[in-house]
Amino acid sequence: MTEPCTVLVTGATGFIGSRLVPELAAAGHRVRAMTRRPEAYEGPGEPVAGDVSDPGTLAAPLEGVDVAVYLVHSLDDDDFERKDADAARAFGLAAAASGTRQIVYLGGLGKDDLSAHLRSRREVERLLGESGVPVTVLRAAIVVGAGGISWEMTRQLVKNLPAMVVPRWAATRTQPIALDDVVRYLAGVVGNEEAYDRAFEIGGPDQLSYVEMLQQAAEVISGSRVPILTVPVLTPRLSSYWISFVTNVDATTGRNLIDSMGTEVIVTDHAIRDLVPGEPITYREAVRRALADSSAG
Ligand SMILES: NC(=O)c1ccc[n+]([C@@H]2O[C@H](COP(=O)([O-])OP(=O)(O)OC[C@H]3O[C@@H](n4cnc5c(N)ncnc54)[C@H](OP(=O)(O)O)[C@@H]3O)[C@@H](O)[C@H]2O)c1
Repeated sequence: MTEPCTVLVTGATGFIGSRLVPELAAAGHRVRAMTRRPEAYEGPGEPVAGDVSDPGTLAAPLEGVDVAVYLVHSLDDDDFERKDADAARAFGLAAAASGTRQIVYLGGLGKDDLSAHLRSRREVERLLGESGVPVTVLRAAIVVGAGGISWEMTRQLVKNLPAMVVPRWAATRTQPIALDDVVRYLAGVVGNEEAYDRAFEIGGPDQLSYVEMLQQAAEVISGSRVPILTVPVLTPRLSSYWISFVTNVDATTGRNLIDSMGTEVIVTDHAIRDLVPGEPITYREAVRRALADSSAG
């Protein structure tokens, strides 16, 4: 258990941030929820204005902050590599100037042959710490929870198609993690000095190919398996058009995610389990919780 402190959560209105803020508040931290539209913010914590693409707006939200959680990305933008790099550099600089003790970042899992999207997340890790603030990185593959883009893609594919034609990347293995576990790990490293300047891999207990993920999701959602046919010729560009046709995920985001799907993303280092103990929940259970939350929301 770490001491309660002042925590700035960027991306507080997002899929992960909106679940993290109440968890940190419940743990006794003073939470500032950063968003570009504080007037529309309805969650717990104190809403503060800040735009990572406008460095002049960052001093005020970071003033007096002990720990900053960085949950911002621009995956829906064709120019995301440059934008995310500029934003991370500016945020690291502003955090150093305000005396922030730790930046916590949720990055991407994966080792070799990284896609542009995963390379960009790795670059963000480095740039956030460039000005000297200790960074704690949690590297995750797909986060399964209501409202997450990857989960929405899975759910809508399963729902909208009686049979699925999947490209070769669907055989790549990944290690999905439940939203509840991501929030637990993020909250567990906030203010924890043992986590300073370290990168941890986080994942659920199951290592699954994308096909297996689709199958298991179909079983939980509809109670039956769906026929799946693998074709070798569907290029990432075609796949992304197809995803945007079948689901409401836009083609740029779909393309950026699909480009990463050729890379195996598996946890090989389990050090986080010593720092933040507890059993992560299974993929099937994560799907059940996501479904329950989707229908409740
Ligand atoms: N989802 C996953 O499966 C997954 C897996 C691994 C890692 N991650 C990482 O986790 C982080 C959060 O992901 P998410 O899925 O929760 O994202 P999300 O739902 O898309 O939310 C993104 C957040 O970023 C904020 N934002 C965007 N541009 C901003 C800017 N210029 N200045 C300030 N805030 C800005 C938005 O807030 P406002 O619009 O209110 O300003 C929003 O709250 C990202 O870094 C992502 O790379 C996610």
